[in-house]
Formats: sequence, structure tokens, C-alpha cells
Amino acid sequence: MTVPRGGWDPGEYERLAAIAVAAVARHVAESQSGDVPVGSPAPLPELIQRLELRSLIRDGGLEPERFEPWLERMLEHSVRLHHPAQIAHQVGAPDVPSAIADLVQGAINQPMSVYEMGPAAHAMERVVVEWMTRQLGWPDGAGGVLTHGGSLANLTVLLAARAAAAPDAWTDGVDRTLAVLAPSSTHYSVRRSVAMLGLGERAVVDLEVDEYERIVPDALDDALERCEAAGRRPMALVAAACATSTGLHDDLEAIGAFCREHGIWFHVDAAHGATALLSPVHRHRLRGIEHADSAIWDAHKMMRTSTLAAAVLLRDGRRLEAAFRQKASYLIYEDSDDVGLSLLERQVECTKAALGARIFMTLAFRGEEGIARYLEGRYDETVRFWELISAREGFECLSRPESNILCFRYGRDPQLQIRLREQLLAEKRFHLSSTEVNGERWLRMTVTAPATSEETILGLLDAIERLAAAD
Ligand SMILES: Cc1ncc(COP(=O)(O)O)c(C=O)c1O
Repeated sequence: MTVPRGGWDPGEYERLAAIAVAAVARHVAESQSGDVPVGSPAPLPELIQRLELRSLIRDGGLEPERFEPWLERMLEHSVRLHHPAQIAHQVGAPDVPSAIADLVQGAINQPMSVYEMGPAAHAMERVVVEWMTRQLGWPDGAGGVLTHGGSLANLTVLLAARAAAAPDAWTDGVDRTLAVLAPSSTHYSVRRSVAMLGLGERAVVDLEVDEYERIVPDALDDALERCEAAGRRPMALVAAACATSTGLHDDLEAIGAFCREHGIWFHVDAAHGATALLSPVHRHRLRGIEHADSAIWDAHKMMRTSTLAAAVLLRDGRRLEAAFRQKASYLIYEDSDDVGLSLLERQVECTKAALGARIFMTLAFRGEEGIARYLEGRYDETVRFWELISAREGFECLSRPESNILCFRYGRDPQLQIRLREQLLAEKRFHLSSTEVNGERWLRMTVTAPATSEETILGLLDAIERLAAAD
């Protein structure tokens, strides 16, 4: 078969893909065996040099023979999400079906916001969103869209809430009367969205939280009074399922009841926790979400898709279409009322990656049950780790975990927690994170890799004791 000049060479594709697939397969297998160090980032300038990034951009020359050793080096300097000791962040250890979806989409590149620009990918997104709204227990008429991450999803929801509260804001801008009720523990993207929407960060009215930074439902009346006394009206209230720092869930039933009573848009940031809806054992943690006006769901967290694959979900899908009041005549006909074939009126993006393919492939291969089993495995193990840590002298946990996130500490010195984390990372044996809860510093683990075991955690506790003794 002849290849047109500058065209796609199937032979090259097959050669490079074979090298890449084999190298990645080795890398992931090695990572999940735990037989290699979990690693830690090299200083940035050094890494740029080691990977010859500048010279390769300038001179090119990455031939198939050079590609393999270069790729091995690149992988060595990448975070090993499948490693048992990789317990730092919330990005899931991706599963094979989503990786394959990316491999395919990387080649056929379907910018699917408009149906005709990627029919199969578009159809997958439609059906995935429909499936998600059903998991939330929402009635017909619910709708949504996939977007590049939870932060953009929160922004999109709040834009829809703003359109509901102040329909003229799109054309006339916003006045200073709107507010968003949210706890200080809310993900930073909520506060950032409020500022980006032109409301000003001060429009966030803090909700009272308990010692675990969960919203105190009994104090909601006070917050509403504070809001009204400041001359503002709430356009939304944001609760978490679950909170980024602690992995704990707000009481969605009580908060939802309050919102219904006062006619306030109830938004649940379920970026991390929504996948628990698939588990008969854990779905109760989200009880009350069925009454929410909107929710977000990151499949790239506990559904094990590659980044990014987030969903904006609204109980009444039409409210999302009211959020963006624009038409693009080169993509959709000005006079067409048929929004059925375009997602442009629901999302920030114009061109968008085939996000639905990642989620669809994961579901199609693993099924709801397979994903539920994965989630239950991680959630249940985290409870076991909580037991191990709580039983060990000198260690303390913030609370019994309700997800795969667990905060713990050794002693109470905030600086010690930071030093311990940094030293563990420098030793390249454990990668964990750290957070502040109610002004106190904790170490934080997020258990996403199936390879993480009790042995891993016992090793971590030994390492912490050793480092603290030498501190
Ligand atoms: C509760 C919550 N909301 C939103 C986000 C933001 O999601 P993303 O990183 O996909 O933008 C996160 C991410 O950690 C989160 O935990």
C-alpha cells in the first residue's frame, strides 16, 4: 500500500505502537509488583536535560531505535500510579479498557462535540451521561455533559445556577446580590468558579463545619440569615460527597431538605465519591443525592479511567442548556432549534476529546459490578488501614474512613508531618500527601492501586517511626 507524502504510515504506527505497548506493559507490571522504588521527581531542569526535551524539539531525530530507550527513561520519570506505595493523590490507577480507548482515540481523533464530527464518540457520551443520571436516581429529563475535569464541571454547574438565578447575567453581567453557600473545605475550584463568574470571591458565604469539616445542617439557617443580612441571595449551596481533604461525606439528606425548603439550588460535588453509587454496600453514603439539582462525577478518580473524564449532571437537563446563550453558525445552524446533535450549548469546550469512550469502554469491559468490586476493595482496605494505624502507638487517625481517603499523623507536631512526607518521598519508597483539616496538619493517603496491601502500610508505619526517631 502506498503512503501519500506526509501521510499516515501504517507500518510506522504499528512499529511504534508495538514498542510503546510493550514498554508500558512492562512498566505497569513492574510498578504493581512493588519491586521498584515508587520514585520521586527529579529537579525540573535536570529532568528536562535527562529527557533531552529541548534538543529533541530543536533537532528532532526520535527514530524508532532511539524511541524505545527514550520512552523507558520517560516512564522512569513518571508517577507510578499502579505501585502499592503510591498513595498520594486521587487520580485513579487506570484500568486497561480506558487505556485502550485512549490508544484508539489518539489515532482517530474524534472531536465529538458536534455529532457529525465524531458520531460514535458522541453517541458514547450521550449514553454514558444518561447512565450516570440513572445512577443518581434522577427522573426523565435529567441531562448533562462530559467535560475536562471536575474543576470545569463545577464551573459549568455554577454557570447554570447563575443563569437560573439571574437569567440576564449572560448579557448584562452580574450585580453584587448573588451568593454561593459552601463550607471552607469545599474544593478550591468552587471558590475559583465563583470568582471567574464575576461574582467576586466574597460571594462565597462560609457554612459552619464540624471538627471533621463536614457541613453542620443545624447551622444552615444561620448562614442563610448571614447571607441575607449582607444583602445577598443564594444562587446555590455546595455540599461534598466526599470532601477532598478528608474523604468524608456531608449529610446530603438534611442539606437537601434545607435547600428544598428555601428554594436553593442544591449542588453536590461528588467528583470523588459518585462512583460509590455503583456499590450496594457504599451507595448509602450518598443518600439524598437523588434530591440534588446538580452533581459532578469524575470517572478518572474511582472509575479508573484515564484523565480526564468528568461529568456535569443536572436533574433538569434544560437548565444546563440555559447556561450558555450562544450559537456558532459554522458549527450549528443559527436558525436550528435542534440541539440534539450538538453539545456546544452545554459545555465550555468547543473541540472536546472523546471522554465518553473512556467511561464506556470501562463499563463495557468491567460492568457496573466490576467497578463496584474495585471501589469496595479500596474502601474496605482503607478501613483496615485505619484499624492498623489507630492500633499503633504514637499514631492517630482523623476519623474512620468513609472512602479510600484517610488522614493520619504521627505525634501532633505539624512541621514533623511535613518533614516526614518529604523524607519518605526523598527515599523514593512511599508517596503520600498531606492536608490541613480545621487548621491542623495531617498526613493523607488515597488508596487507589489494587496492589496496596496491609504489608505496604505496615512498612510505611515502620518507615515513619524510623524517620521520626532520627528527626
Ligand atoms: C471534591 C472534588 N471536587 C473537584 C475536584 C477537581 O477535579 P479535577 O482535578 O478533575 O479538576 C476534586 C479533585 O481533586 C475533588 O476532590
